[in-house]
Amino acid sequence: MLLKFLAREASKLLGRIASNNPLDLPQVERRHGSWHHADIEWMANQVRAVAGDFAEIGVFRGAAFRKVAALAAQQAKLAHAFDSFVGMDAPAAEDGTHYPKGKFDIGGPAQFVQLMTAAGVQPDLYRVWAGYVPVCFEQVPHALRFSLAIVDLDHYRPTAASLGWLAPRINDGGLLALDDFVPSHDALATKAIREFLAGDRRFEKIAFFNQQLILRKLPSATKS
Ligand SMILES: C[S@@+](CC[C@H](N)C(=O)[O-])C[C@H]1O[C@@H](n2cnc3c(N)ncnc32)[C@H](O)[C@@H]1O
Repeated sequence: MLLKFLAREASKLLGRIASNNPLDLPQVERRHGSWHHADIEWMANQVRAVAGDFAEIGVFRGAAFRKVAALAAQQAKLAHAFDSFVGMDAPAAEDGTHYPKGKFDIGGPAQFVQLMTAAGVQPDLYRVWAGYVPVCFEQVPHALRFSLAIVDLDHYRPTAASLGWLAPRINDGGLLALDDFVPSHDALATKAIREFLAGDRRFEKIAFFNQQLILRKLPSATKS
């Protein structure tokens, strides 16, 4: 019994070492297309000492954002929710037909605030930036900086635009967490993430699980 248990634990540990993921990543059952709260908590812990707010671009009904906002508040940071709140924009050629215009429509930003309040997240913990990417970025103060940003938009163009907008706004040591990265594909968000990785030298990969790629911004002097 004990031997079997030890063998299982040893094999899990070897698996984690082989994956190159940090050994302290939560050991949880994950579902594609959603962020496990334990992983969000793990990311928030990585940036405790990094200044800057938290952001999620593509929040849908706030299943992840409610955790993002609570964790930001624990670090005396603000959380920022970016979304059209009326679902996907029209797909581009790189997107195929899986995410048509209007998919994930929740009926507007007021509906999002209601959902958050019902989940126990008070409006003073976060800001809502409504509109399609990149228009929703236009009103954001220039000085705003982030220590943690999650991008979860599915489509190619808004993902590419979000990465371009976020990269200079993430403080050194901050994390950029990207959903829907499927290394064997070259469409949708994956295409934008590939292009970002090919052109950017300021972010290092620190973890990859559940089609979710976690990058950390390096200090300016490390690479240029
Ligand atoms: C898969 S859902 C996000 C799920 C969410 N991150 C969660 O964990 O529950 C994708 C979201 O991105 C938003 N979205 C997609 N394309 C957008 C665009 N061009 N501009 C603004 N929001 C967009 C959709 O409205 C939708 O809410």
